[in-house]
Amino acid sequence: IKNIAVLTSGGDSPGMNAGIRAVIRSGIYHGMNMFGIRRGYDGMVQGDIIAMDAKSVANIIQRGGTILKTARSDEFRTVEGRKQAYENLKKHDIDALVVIGGDGTFTGASKFIEEFDIPIIGMPGTIDNDLNGTDFTIGYDTAINTVVDAVDKIRDTAESHDRLFVVEVMGRDSGLIALRSGISTGAEAVLIPELEVDYDAIMKRLDKTRKNKSSRIIIVAEGDKEGGLVVAEKIKANFPAYDVRVSILGHIQRGGSPTCMDRVLASRLGVAAVEGLLEGRKGEMAGLICGNVQFTPFNKAIKHIDKINTNLTRIVEILSL
Ligand code: F6P
Repeated sequence: IKNIAVLTSGGDSPGMNAGIRAVIRSGIYHGMNMFGIRRGYDGMVQGDIIAMDAKSVANIIQRGGTILKTARSDEFRTVEGRKQAYENLKKHDIDALVVIGGDGTFTGASKFIEEFDIPIIGMPGTIDNDLNGTDFTIGYDTAINTVVDAVDKIRDTAESHDRLFVVEVMGRDSGLIALRSGISTGAEAVLIPELEVDYDAIMKRLDKTRKNKSSRIIIVAEGDKEGGLVVAEKIKANFPAYDVRVSILGHIQRGGSPTCMDRVLASRLGVAAVEGLLEGRKGEMAGLICGNVQFTPFNKAIKHIDKINTNLTRIVEILSL
């Protein structure tokens, strides 16, 4: 391997830039020529490939988003699109790739390896934390801290007005953002797609704990069957006297300067990804499990496993008294 390219794909996440920097600089450290592919697989199909050096990743470790930009590519889903992408890589003599993204990114990478036998290593970049083979994905820690900051602010106004707020957070198929942010903001209940929602129990709890608090927060994951607006309607129907408001946090969760944890995670995995390629690995995601770098095949990393720790769901209930 002599020439390595890096791309970011799918939804962006804070820490992707720290990951790009780590890949580029560790590649240079090991004597490689380094490239960046802009706009993910779309840029690979279009041939939007640039040479990168140590300077091109200076002053980005603290920046949210991705300097390489990202996209969800329809063309790369076609055989012709992938062939075109491979030809573009060959024009630059690129013989290995690091892809930073989530399940869609790794599914695309697996297909590409099958067809063209090119070594690819993945790095987990998504705020949802919904990948197997790593305790945390790059961007998750920043996103939950953004949620905590936002909910703390909502709590101030909720407390002043004696209101109940239903706050909807991101997580298309996963309640991991909801669960941790719920615990850390003292939420009354957390509704997530992985677990059946027991509305009766929630309503009973709200009633029972009414005398202990004047403000209430209920966190609902975007992937919940009903969503924040419907949950709020159900609460109003049960408790007409409650002053209920809904806040959908949306894309603020995807932006902002990455936390120290995300910067370190991205830096470690970027170095591991390049060194993994140099050791002859391919078709695997570099992740961090219990503090150690581990490689997991793409097909296992993207398999939706339930990372919900039921000890955490119990904590929400116990502490909501
Ligand atoms: O996968 C990350 C994520 O932020 C999900 O939580 C959310 O459902 C989705 O991306 C939103 O995607 P888009 O920005 O394309 O609407």
